[in-house]
Amino acid sequence: MSWKDEYAKKLCSMKEAVTHIRSGDRVVVTHAVGEPSALLDAMVENAEQYENVEIIHMIAMGGAKYCQPGMEKHFRHNSLFLGGSTRKAIEEGRGDFTPVYFSEVPDLLRTKLHPNVVLMHLSSPDEHGFCSLGVSVDYTKPAAEVADIRIAQINKHMPRTMGDSFIHVSRLDYIVEHDTPLIELPPPEISEVERAIGKNCASLVQDGDTLQLGIGAIPDAVLLSLKDKHDLGIHSEMVSDGVVELVEAGVITNKRKTLFPGKSVITFLMGTRRLYDYAHDNPAVQMMPVDFVNNPAVIAQNDNLVSINSCVQVDLFGQVVSTSVGLRQISGVGGQVDFVRGANLSKNGRTIMAMPSTAQGGKVSKIVPLIDTGAAVTTSRYDVNYVVTEHGVAQLKFRTLRERARELINIAHPDFRASLIQEFEKRFRSGF
Ligand code: COA
Repeated sequence: MSWKDEYAKKLCSMKEAVTHIRSGDRVVVTHAVGEPSALLDAMVENAEQYENVEIIHMIAMGGAKYCQPGMEKHFRHNSLFLGGSTRKAIEEGRGDFTPVYFSEVPDLLRTKLHPNVVLMHLSSPDEHGFCSLGVSVDYTKPAAEVADIRIAQINKHMPRTMGDSFIHVSRLDYIVEHDTPLIELPPPEISEVERAIGKNCASLVQDGDTLQLGIGAIPDAVLLSLKDKHDLGIHSEMVSDGVVELVEAGVITNKRKTLFPGKSVITFLMGTRRLYDYAHDNPAVQMMPVDFVNNPAVIAQNDNLVSINSCVQVDLFGQVVSTSVGLRQISGVGGQVDFVRGANLSKNGRTIMAMPSTAQGGKVSKIVPLIDTGAAVTTSRYDVNYVVTEHGVAQLKFRTLRERARELINIAHPDFRASLIQEFEKRFRSGF
């Protein structure tokens, strides 16, 4: 049978596709802007037909209707990364959180949480019958390799990204055609504080470095401050629109990369149509599964790898909390520790934690004597190196506890320095 005949045979309605989910199934869903929103909506509309369906998802951009109040009997969310739409559900007991490095999610699905169904979002097939996973290859490709049933929303708006990012029509079980614009994440407004953080981070970036950037205003502010650098490269879990600007300005060339020279290596994209159009059919963008991109041993093959991530709290030992505020889980580790470890192993690698010096409108300092009770350390004091705020750069690796505390206090917000110095003098029995 030709792939076109197979395609026609597997084509079904949205309504029919979701009837292949059964009570008690474990369903893995493509995340971030690759979320197959129409399939998810159809699944939620069909909720009465299911009991106890486990939904595995990371960044849920479409409102996560499956874990809203009233859905408890039908769905149970197992979140690998909390965000605005899922925090409350987990707090209120309508779901669970599994702490896991992003690089290990494929292994988690292969060895422990076998997916019965994977719901994915693909490009139209090419002339050979291959569909691209487009903006989100990360854990969906590995999940599709082991799932019992693969249901695909095929969307002509999904860019055909290159790399290890394809699945053949013969591997799909049910196909639904639904053309709808992808979810977009507009570039955030960048405040003065973030601009200053960006500048301080950029002072640690050298020509020819390969960058990993997290998500949000701080990475965008860093990119803004890199306009006078040369021949930067990208090996990053995700990128957003800011990267396109630097490619167009000739700053990102990937020329001096030691792994995949000439190509940006990424596992998911999150931005606007501008980014998706840039990645479409572009061999300079290699989209690969997350157990490759985020594997510290792979990351380390990039010399001069600079990782830039954000966090919630840093204590005077240099312990970094990034996923909880006290006992309250607000996020997930994502690729933070994967990249911190990879950057530490990279020749001339550098790892940066960048954050505003205060939170909650300036009411609390993010640099604290001790982390909050109940908070979990994300990046340990053994792995941390640079911590950056709007007030400067602290360098912690290979430093004594006394030196670390001094470095950190010097970049704390001036309103909190006196109390931190008091703590310093008590702890180290010496003047600051
Ligand atoms: N004390 C009390 N509350 C704090 C706080 C602190 N020290 N730091 C942050 N918060 C609160 C904020 O006030 C905000 O609360 P709200 O939602 O009620 O307004 C919430 O925590 C989120 O903080 P915010 O600064 O807006 O988060 P962000 O969007 O800038 O994200 C991280 C920051 C740390 C959560 C995010 O970078 C992350 O998830 N990091 C871990 C994952 C990662 O690094 N992945 C790698 C690449 S993608």
